[in-house]
This record gives sequence, C-alpha cells and structure tokens, in this order.
Amino acid sequence: MPIIPENIVEEVRMASDIVDVVSDYVALKQKGRNFFGLCPFHPEKTPSFSVNPEKQIFHCFGCGTGGNVFTFIMKEEGVNFPEAVRILAKRAGIAIPEPEEATDVNLQVREALYHINEMAMAFYEQQLFSPAGREALKYLHSRGFTDEGIRTFHLGYAPDSFDALLKHATARHFSPDKLEQAGLLNKREDGGYYDRFRHRVMFPILNLSGKVIAFGGRRLSDDDTIPKYVNSPETPIYHKSNVLYGLFLARDAIREQDLAVFVEGYTDMMRLYLSGIRNVVATSGTALTPLQARLVRRYTQNVTLLYDSDTAGAAATLRGADVLVEQGLEVKVAELQEGEDPDSFVQKYGPDALREQLAKAIPLLDFKALRIPEAGGHLEKNERVQSLVQTLAKIQDGLKRQEMVHYYAEKMKLDEEVLWDEVRRLRRLYRLRRKQPEEPVQVLLPAEQKGSFAERSRPVEEELIRIMLLYWDAVPFVFSFMEVTDFYNEDFQIIAAVLFELYKNQIRPEPEELIHYFRDAHISEFISRVVLLPKEEREAVTKNYQRWAADCLAKLQRLMLELKIEDVQQQIKEREASGGDVTELLEAWRNLQDQRQRIRPENFLPEYQ
Ligand code: UTP
Ligand code: MN
Repeated sequence: MPIIPENIVEEVRMASDIVDVVSDYVALKQKGRNFFGLCPFHPEKTPSFSVNPEKQIFHCFGCGTGGNVFTFIMKEEGVNFPEAVRILAKRAGIAIPEPEEATDVNLQVREALYHINEMAMAFYEQQLFSPAGREALKYLHSRGFTDEGIRTFHLGYAPDSFDALLKHATARHFSPDKLEQAGLLNKREDGGYYDRFRHRVMFPILNLSGKVIAFGGRRLSDDDTIPKYVNSPETPIYHKSNVLYGLFLARDAIREQDLAVFVEGYTDMMRLYLSGIRNVVATSGTALTPLQARLVRRYTQNVTLLYDSDTAGAAATLRGADVLVEQGLEVKVAELQEGEDPDSFVQKYGPDALREQLAKAIPLLDFKALRIPEAGGHLEKNERVQSLVQTLAKIQDGLKRQEMVHYYAEKMKLDEEVLWDEVRRLRRLYRLRRKQPEEPVQVLLPAEQKGSFAERSRPVEEELIRIMLLYWDAVPFVFSFMEVTDFYNEDFQIIAAVLFELYKNQIRPEPEELIHYFRDAHISEFISRVVLLPKEEREAVTKNYQRWAADCLAKLQRLMLELKIEDVQQQIKEREASGGDVTELLEAWRNLQDQRQRIRPENFLPEYQ
C-alpha cells in the first residue's frame, strides 16, 4: 500500500515542471529544445547536463545520470521516493494527507525524529535569546559572533537543568521515549528521563534538505573537568560518518568555487562562513570517511584541508586524508602557524589573510613527502616515504598513479623502480584483503588496509538488483528492508529508484520492457544482459528469490556495520595515540561486533520472524 496516494503523486508530477525544479539547483541555459547546465552529480567545467522539457527528463552526458523530476530530487537531496514527493508537493503547494496507519514504519520514525529535533532547535534558540541564556549569549558575543551570525546557524542554549527540554516537550505532547530515540534525553536506571544537553551552547547539525538531524553542545567555560562537547548519539536519522557540518549552507559556494575547504571545528566553519569564505565544512574532529568524501564529491573534486599544524587531531586527520584520495578527490593541505586555528586566525588577521593561506595550499602528496607534522616534529625520510607510498597506492587512476610515482621518485631522490615496487606491494595487499570472502573478525586492523565500502558492497548490490529485475515480487520484499538510498553505487541506486517508483505506482513492466525506463546506455546494457538470461536461470531466481535476497541483505547489513566498526577502530587508535581513555569506545566496538555476529540471512525470511 503506497503511503502517498497515487493520484497525489501524479498531481505533484504534473505540478512540478522539471526545468523549473532543476533551476532551483542548477543554472540552466536554453539551447534548441533542451536546457543545459553544469552537472550537479559530478564535477565538470563544461555543461553536459541536459534537461528535456518535452519528455520531462534530465540526462548527463558526462556521468550518465538521468531520470525524471522525482529521481532528480532523490539524488540531489539524498532522499527516498516518498520524501522526494513530499518536497515537491510542498514546493507546489499540494497538501499530502497524512497516512492513517503506519505503512512505512521506517519513514514515519524518521519523520517523527525530524519533527522532534525541529522542536528542540526552536526551544534552544529561544532559550539563548531569553534571560536564561544571557551567559551563553554573552559567551558567543565575546567570541565575536553577532546575533545575525548566531541566527544564521540557529545556535541555541540548553539550560542548566535536568528537565528543561523534558518539561517543554512533554507539555507539547512529545513522548520522552521518542526524545530518547532522538538522542535528546537520557534514561535513568529507575526508568525516568533527563536532558542530555545541559548548560551548553547548541549547534544544530542539518542534512542536505535543511532538516535538523543532530546537535553538538559546547560547554561555556574552559573548565577541563567537563567534556568540551557533548554530541548526539547515532540515531536512525544521524550517522556521524555521513555528515559534514555546514554543507547545507556551504554547498552552493563549494560548487561555484569548485573547492571545499575542510576545517575541524564547528566554530571554525562558522567563522569562515560568516566572514565570507563560504565554501567551508567542518569534519567535527573525527577521522574522514568515504561517505563524507562522496558527499562533497557531488559538488566539487577539490578539497583543501585547513588545520592548525600542532594538534594531534590534525595529524590524525592528515593520515585519514587518503580516504579522500581513494574516492578520487584532489586533496591539498593549507597550514596555519602554530597555535592558531582557522577561527582564531581569521579573528586576528582577517579573511583576506586566510585566503592567502588557502592559495598557498600544497598537494597532500607534497605535504607527505616533505613535512608531516607529528608530535615529535618532522619525520625521518623513510617514514615520510612510507606515508607517501600509502597515499600513492590509493590513487585509483592508473595513469595518474604512474605520473605521481615518477614525479615523487625524482623529488625525493628515490629509485623509481623501488618506489613502484612498494606501491604495487601495497596495492596487492589491499586486493588480497578484499578477496577473502568470509574474513575472520580482525581486531584493530587499520581501516586503510581493507577495500572501500563501495568496492565491497558493489557485488552484493548488483545481485539484489539482478534479483529484482528478474522477479518482480522481489521488489517489495527488498524494499521492506532497505531504502533506495541504501544502494551505495550510483547506477544501482538509479535502477533501484526506478523500480521502486514503478512499484509504488503499481506499474508492473515485463522484464523486457524495463530498459525503456532508463536513458543511460550502460544501465540499459546492464539490464538487457540480466533479463536475457536463459529460462532456467530465471526460474531458479523466481523460486529462490527470498533466500538469495536474504543472503544479500545480510551481507549488506554486515558491511554497513563493518564500516561503523572501522570508524570506531580509527577513533580508538586516535584516542590511544593521544593517551585518552578508550573504555567507552571499546564497549561500543564490542557492541557492534556483537551485532555483526548476530546477522543471519534467516533474519530476513518471513518464516523465521
Ligand atoms: P575543537 O576542540 O577544535 O573545538 O574540536 P572547536 O569547535 O574548534 O571549539 P572552540 O573553537 O575551541 O570553541 C573540533 C571539533 O571536534 C569535535 C567537535 O565537532 C569540534 O567542533 N569535538 C571536540 C567533539 O566532538 N568533542 C570534544 O570533546 C571535542
Ligand atoms: Mn578548534
């Protein structure tokens, strides 16, 4: 049963002219019958992204992405089909009746959490500008943030109380249980609840649709006996590894300037943005992830890491920068003099001085070859070579890798063959690791020695798509466990989106007809190869589709957990390196390992539920 009635979907479709909608995101110019602009889904300098008003479709000749107005919003906003319909309905002023029963539990849970966070953000914001927030507001003013800047980021204040939000929310009929799920309340042993954020400046974290998904709360003092930041935990709508703070505000500037500046802190991001350097996001002081790389890659291929040179955190981030290289980004490093972070630097010397520093940024590889900041100062040459080799091995483009090996062999006065051997050895190692099907649980294996999530999930996603293409009943089955956006590979996400849309609209095409729904040559080709399978193979799928899909779903879920496990391992390593306490992280790590071990294909089969 579709959550959004079909006639409304149709009404929204009719009311949303694709040229109009796309123009909200991309500058379009008319050429003949079509409109052209710079593709929002891959970085480019000449427009190959086209919109066809007659057919109401878009297509990029550069990256092959294509679809209709709903697929465009799904990709652009990173939402699923019903959410895309809602966004367009809102834009067109069409009311969507609320569903009477919870048909899509997942979506409803998410919507409820957005709603709660929205309420909490308004509450904190209002508190900041009330007498209760005087000290917090004074603190922000003393750091040079104006009311206007504070409002731009919707900063707030969580009162010095264990039940300020709890009372405010329950008076408005929000259930404490849901607030706990949103990470805003903690549960007491006796079953009661209390505010998670107390006496803190609140930084709301927004997703790409501008919805509040989490909060960071900073203490008001320099008192080192309490944690500097308290953050939201992971929730159904907040996955730390998939967020860049400020991207919602910064993305236009990032696209326009074809460059994203990465800083560590919320305050750094705010300061730069408010002083006119708007193409900036914050990594929030954790290791960079492939998902973050992919997020930013939607807007640009160029990243400059801007960190103060003397912190352990910055050194760790630089080590993690290989993740960005692996995802095809061009990474540079800009250094600030010791003791300054981007925030304090701009305060002292102004935005133009910072722009000069950014202009002097050097390629990551140069940085690694010449000077890696470490606690003990500059590194010995062979350590620098090791670090360089690790980055070189992450370059996916073979030609470019060759070029770089040649260049750095010369620059560092190394034997080119020896350098090549090292790079090859490392790449072989990565490949080997990737091939082992059932890896034993590996404790504290460095994240960079495994295949990327994209590589590991691809074959599994492909199989799920195959199953759905071959047997229609598998479509609702698969989508009762995952969402379109859970497909990580872009091509498969497009196919999944179309299948889901057809299903929601109760259209059931013959397998042979399917290719007509795709405009992308390589997707159509893939589909025809799949649907032209011999009859026996097809029948085998039909018979066993649940079993096979369940296997894939279990594998995917395991991979996602592994991604999280790697993230925690990275954090443990960093915390250990800086001499911190890792008990909590180890606990989280064990929990995730437990969860991972409990995943079985049977969990996805009806007879076992
Ligand atoms: P910083 O300590 O540099 O904080 O950590 P900051 O945001 O620049 O704050 P100011 O300028 O000192 O007030 C960088 C980022 O690391 C995360 C936060 O996202 C922070 O913005 N962090 C830091 C935490 O999550 N928890 C912490 O205890 C510390
Ligand atoms: Mn800082």
